[in-house]
Amino acid sequence: MRLQDKRVVVTAAASGMGRAGCLLFAQEGATVAVVDIDPARTEQVVAEVIAQGGKARGFVADLSSAEACKHVIAECAEWLGGIDLLWAHAGSPGPSAVEGVDIAAFDFAVALNLTSALICAGEVADHMRRAGGGAILFTASVAGLRGSPLSPVYSALKFGVVGFTKSLARRYARDGIRVNVVCPGAVDTPMLPAFLDRDGNDDELRAANQARLVANVPMGRVARPEEIAHAALWLLSDDASFVNGVALPVDGGYAA
Ligand SMILES: NC(=O)c1ccc[n+]([C@@H]2O[C@H](COP(=O)([O-])OP(=O)(O)OC[C@H]3O[C@@H](n4cnc5c(N)ncnc54)[C@H](O)[C@@H]3O)[C@@H](O)[C@H]2O)c1
Repeated sequence: MRLQDKRVVVTAAASGMGRAGCLLFAQEGATVAVVDIDPARTEQVVAEVIAQGGKARGFVADLSSAEACKHVIAECAEWLGGIDLLWAHAGSPGPSAVEGVDIAAFDFAVALNLTSALICAGEVADHMRRAGGGAILFTASVAGLRGSPLSPVYSALKFGVVGFTKSLARRYARDGIRVNVVCPGAVDTPMLPAFLDRDGNDDELRAANQARLVANVPMGRVARPEEIAHAALWLLSDDASFVNGVALPVDGGYAA
């Protein structure tokens, strides 16, 4: 059991990689606070954790609001009796345009990808200090390691998450808090079509985009959410006790 008795918060946890993380962390002995904007799917993930013999509770929050981030971390800490681990996984593709970009859509993407990471990390730090240490994990993307002509806004925000990770890793190291970031390539989750459909949502275009995307991955496929969750487990667990400030690609070799 790699996370025996650990108290963990996972954001954007009701689907995809976040859900896979909740199930895996609970199997490894953690008690899991499942945070998401979608009440029905949050409860479903909680039910899945409990059905496999684990401990979890759902917390509904719109993480694009800084106030909601603060409030939900406090709620999680109260229920868990402290916080040892955080996977701040929330994010969204954001607008693809540069010329004529929709500023409201840009601001929303900043709020969900970057501000929520900032606030959630800041709010958990004191709980982790009181627990004698902890680990924070963010989610960026390979687009946070390499420029993305199709998604410059997304790429800039994920580069921001990587920079924030490295800075916090140094800032919190003496508090016993490790900070790392996982950088997935394309993952088979409900978010993937949002990337594939950015030139329009007709089937032919999507199929062409998917084929191009897969062709660019040396391993020739997209990831399963569980493959990212296993990397997250490792980075959060004591198996990675001297790993700090790392941006880990989990991308089938794409970033190589
Ligand atoms: N899917 C990919 O190919 C891919 C690749 C690299 C990085 N990412 C990153 O992974 C994360 C998304 O994870 P996923 O692919 O597992 O997506 P997903 O679509 O399966 O899940 C996203 C979850 O976020 C929740 N959510 C959306 N808006 C929210 C809000 N305002 N407040 C709280 N929760 C909200 C949704 O309800 C959903 O449960 C993002 O940070 C994204 O940038 C995804």
